[in-house]
Amino acid sequence: MTLPVYRTIADMRAQVAAWKADGLRVGLVPTMGALHQGHLSLIDEIAPHCDRIITSIFVNPTQFAAHEDLDTYPRDEAADLAALETGKADCVFAPGVAEMYPDGFTTAIVLDGPARGLESDNRPHFFGGVALIVNKLLSQSQADVAIFGEKDYQQLRVIRRMVRDLDLPVEILGGPIIREADGLAMSSRNVYLTEAQRPIAAKLNGILKTLAHSTAPRDVAEEEARHALLAAGFTAVDYATIRDAETLAIPDDNTIERRALIVARLGDVRLLDNMAAI
Ligand code: PAF
Repeated sequence: MTLPVYRTIADMRAQVAAWKADGLRVGLVPTMGALHQGHLSLIDEIAPHCDRIITSIFVNPTQFAAHEDLDTYPRDEAADLAALETGKADCVFAPGVAEMYPDGFTTAIVLDGPARGLESDNRPHFFGGVALIVNKLLSQSQADVAIFGEKDYQQLRVIRRMVRDLDLPVEILGGPIIREADGLAMSSRNVYLTEAQRPIAAKLNGILKTLAHSTAPRDVAEEEARHALLAAGFTAVDYATIRDAETLAIPDDNTIERRALIVARLGDVRLLDNMAAI
């Protein structure tokens, strides 16, 4: 069976309306395409929580700054559709830019709380663009449940906060990080790594584990992680830090769960990873 691919909001909504008329619960897996095992695992994760699954494929321009890789971001829709064909998705929503951002589009979303710092220090435009597109996708699909990977942990926290703050009627799930055999977190941007950079990239996860399990004072553990990353061959460290797992603020006596987060660079490639910390 060929998976239906909807290019317009109206067509996708007509399908959702038919499902809802039958009392079915709809799940949404938002992606920017270049699908890998991590994305496919999100579809498997959401499946028990809904009756029908929409996978969206849209490389969202508003979450890229002018100097970033919007034009070169990996795109292979034929391969994405082939990968989805054998899985549990029931349809694909793959709109064009004009469908999502028609002429005259002016609305923006202003965020704070978990959106403050970390990724925002490096990519100030990023969460505004993500919040905008996720809001649009949720409203267009009227999904009852949606899932986002924990690899982009701050993104997941920002989306959870936004959904709560705006009373959006959707359940948000987090999907576990899927890793290559050597521990590298799967990412569409891993294709940018050269053969020489690849073994260095694999060291990120071990350094993250050490940070997450360190019993040293927080600032000492963070400094050790930064040194270890540079010694391993990373060219720069955007952050190596322990945060409150929910608010992403600096942990204090009220912190219940902590999260270790690292972003390190190999040339132009930014590698993200995170895990629960002690
Ligand atoms: O994580 C991503 O792939 C994107 O940020 C998302 C959530 C699909 C929004 O464009």
